[in-house]
Amino acid sequence: QSESNLSVTVVGASGDLAKKKIFPALFALFYEDCLPQNFTIFGYARTKMSDEELREMISRTLTCRIDKRENCGDKMEEFLERCFYQSGQYNSEEDFAELDLKLKQKEGGKVSNRLFYLSIPPDIFVDVARSASGKASSKNGWTRVIVEKPFGRDSESSGELTRSLKKYLAEDQIFRIDHYLGKELVENLSVLRFSNLVFEPLWSRNYIRNVQFIFSEDFGTEGRGGYFDNYGIIRDIMQNHLLQILALFAMETPVTLDAEDVRNEKVKVLRSMRHLKLEDVVVGQYKGHKKGEKTFLGYTDDPTVPNNSLTPTFAAAALFIDNARWDGVPFLMKAGKALNTRRAEIRVQFRHVPGNLYKRNFGMDLDKATNELVLRVQPDEAIYLKINNKIPGLGMRFDRSDLNLLYSTRYTTEIPDAYERLLLDAIEGERRLFIRSDELDAAWGIFTPLLKELESKKISPELYPYGSRGPVGAHYLAAKYDVRWGDLA
Ligand code: BG6
Repeated sequence: QSESNLSVTVVGASGDLAKKKIFPALFALFYEDCLPQNFTIFGYARTKMSDEELREMISRTLTCRIDKRENCGDKMEEFLERCFYQSGQYNSEEDFAELDLKLKQKEGGKVSNRLFYLSIPPDIFVDVARSASGKASSKNGWTRVIVEKPFGRDSESSGELTRSLKKYLAEDQIFRIDHYLGKELVENLSVLRFSNLVFEPLWSRNYIRNVQFIFSEDFGTEGRGGYFDNYGIIRDIMQNHLLQILALFAMETPVTLDAEDVRNEKVKVLRSMRHLKLEDVVVGQYKGHKKGEKTFLGYTDDPTVPNNSLTPTFAAAALFIDNARWDGVPFLMKAGKALNTRRAEIRVQFRHVPGNLYKRNFGMDLDKATNELVLRVQPDEAIYLKINNKIPGLGMRFDRSDLNLLYSTRYTTEIPDAYERLLLDAIEGERRLFIRSDELDAAWGIFTPLLKELESKKISPELYPYGSRGPVGAHYLAAKYDVRWGDLA
């Protein structure tokens, strides 16, 4: 708790992300006493709204896990009293000047730090950045800006956006958020690897056969078709969420855990990756499906999506890191909407034990006997390791069993939402979990040639029924590299 003021201005306050994630995360931080005594929240958007109306809107989503606690109602009231609203155009310096006046009133002349959360489409980032760094910036403390993806559509547009933002903001004022980096299990990935002798020495091509990053949702793009059709699943999930996890997974040991040391290692991995080729990618799109009485609409049935859209809602890809540690190891990614289940996980499949004694003597099936380490990011956070085990009894029979660390049974602590961790980091100036511009550049470099080829050749996605396991092409792609998807085994 410091003496200085903190204000958080949520630009795009009436949007979905603000309502569902940002305000609830700020409330959680307030509840946990993580915010300074003197803090104020402003919602900024074009819609005309009073402070009271904003509070009413926010209060509808402030239920979350904290609800169970005792004085939650009082805390919520206290929190809402610190929330205010300013309506304005995103490109209007005058409207931001008005915001500045209101902020000053709350700050009462003390040192004031200002955080702007840009929960708005990227084409207006630069306008807002100009005002946030000019008219509405703090005059005696820091000014920081959190930006949400999409950071462009390809290398060129992302580079352009970076250059434009840098006209107004220094790199250390820009916090590019990827909320997957704020997830508990993703944060734990480095702990697991770098502090356990049973894992760290195995973390290379010598022992790891392949690594899989899997994201699936059991719902479609409902209500977001207009946005999604411009981007598709590769830009929405793979180029950022899954690739960021991959970089953390595969990086060399950083010198320290300081932001620059960690990001230096991540960027090296990204720059060592081969640019994706069309033959290493499968794309799919969900189609309508009737299940019993219920009809699930297909992607192009959404009125905001063109009927002939080729935008992928599913993609699988095989990526390679051309460095000494990972030479030849396939890193497989799979991401899809409207599949049969909701999950995000990392799967590490290990090699066979050379000359396995039980294969020779008892015919152990090696294909079914590789060790696999799974980090289930969500839901039901868990880490489990598949090991070969003797089935108890006379004789010699085996199965593959799990050593299972299920968070809900091991820990009573509630798992914070990713946005809580990341907002707190931005407030504290901790940049480790935010994307640096050279990382972003390298990440687009891997995907841009592929995206262009998919679009210029008008590659048709393989259709898959809503609620299914996705296109069969994904199996062939994995099989090409002698891999089986662990989630389907
Ligand atoms: C967002 C994507 O970044 O992540 C969405 O734009 C996706 O399409 C969402 O649904 C998934 O986030 P989470 O935290 O619910 O897995």
